[in-house]
Amino acid sequence: MNKVKIGMLGIGNIAKGTYRTLELSRKKIEDSTDVSFEIVKILNRRPDVDRGIDIPKEKYVTDVNEILDDPEIDIVVELIGGIEPATEYMAAALSRGKHVVTANKAAIAANGEMLQRIAQENHAKLRFEASVGGGIPIINAITTALLSNEFTEVLGILNGTTNYIMTQMTEYGKDYAEVLKEAQEKGFAEADPTADVEGIDVANKLSILISLIFGLYIAPDDIPTQGITSITTEDIVTANDFGYKIKLLASAKMVEEGKISCNVLPCFVPADHPLAVVNNEFNAIYVTGNAVDNLMFYGKGAGPLPTGSAVMGDIIGIGKSMGKDAAYDKNPLLRYDADLDFVGEGENQYYIRVTAIDKPGVLGAVASTFGKYHVGIESMVQRAGQNAGKDSVPLIFIVYKTDRKVLDQALNELIENNYVESVDNVLRVQE
Ligand code: HSE
Repeated sequence: MNKVKIGMLGIGNIAKGTYRTLELSRKKIEDSTDVSFEIVKILNRRPDVDRGIDIPKEKYVTDVNEILDDPEIDIVVELIGGIEPATEYMAAALSRGKHVVTANKAAIAANGEMLQRIAQENHAKLRFEASVGGGIPIINAITTALLSNEFTEVLGILNGTTNYIMTQMTEYGKDYAEVLKEAQEKGFAEADPTADVEGIDVANKLSILISLIFGLYIAPDDIPTQGITSITTEDIVTANDFGYKIKLLASAKMVEEGKISCNVLPCFVPADHPLAVVNNEFNAIYVTGNAVDNLMFYGKGAGPLPTGSAVMGDIIGIGKSMGKDAAYDKNPLLRYDADLDFVGEGENQYYIRVTAIDKPGVLGAVASTFGKYHVGIESMVQRAGQNAGKDSVPLIFIVYKTDRKVLDQALNELIENNYVESVDNVLRVQE
């Protein structure tokens, strides 16, 4: 039986999940691959801390070079997260001809091209299945089983923390701050939840998916991104009244030949859309290919064992092909060669909630201003509710497809002309 030796960087939740996944399935993996995989060294800068897992202490090393310089190690598994020093360590491993497996969406979205180039120059493989969608084998599916398709669209719920928060707000009427606290207590959300709740984590994942699906690099910072922090119970109730659920969606599509739009935005999703029933920590990715048509992948997008399963999948894939001339590596996973233009957020339908001045003529002026900018109103509701008898009133619109910049100009004009006190929320509406 061939032996594959692994050096693992990090001993956090995903690393422990990967270790456990290998131990749980060792026999099955060996029987079906004829390869024995062993995690021989683990970078653990604080070996005296109890990690809650039974790992022989002699596997722990405190200096990364004990792994990077070890000629016996075939695969380096990077699970420390963050762009640096993770990128530096992966580059060092690849330049020494070691294969690299990572779950690190931030590092791949920022430096994937450079890492892939080093991998190719050194005949090594770079694999990152766990970087998108946790346990969902979406990258493997797109780059192997679905390779015969030209894709026109990818749509996804790619963050478990925010989907959990939105689900709890929707199902139990809890407010954002209450659910976030609860999610942190349950270990779902990080102590600093910024990357999740501001959509940064999803923008990293979407950037990777776009390169795989369309062959175009769009840096995460260039993707129009809005998190979920502005969503109120009022938005959720209104969505429900109109027949929608609010979800943080990543979207990229071919809007016309040669033009790609993409965004990460909280969206009104029709209640009968398959993505509307993806709840709690689950993720889903919906792709449209010219041969396969619509396809949805659903599963746990976070957590040690689901993510460990994805990491192990990459390790096994590399282990099985080691020593062979793997033809598919001549075509790297990440592609940045497409002749496509990125056209920003694209034209979309939007839900708009404003607080308008409550006096005669205002509603007409708001409608005329939208008309002036060619923003068509599909639905409209005025809800006096708690504002009854006050000087202002909430107005809610769903508008037909429009350019976001044009819509923002119309909304600014409403504020400048004192018809509207504040624009309280603008959310994309998914078709
Ligand atoms: N923080 C991510 C989430 C998991 O909540 O989905 C890792 O990508």
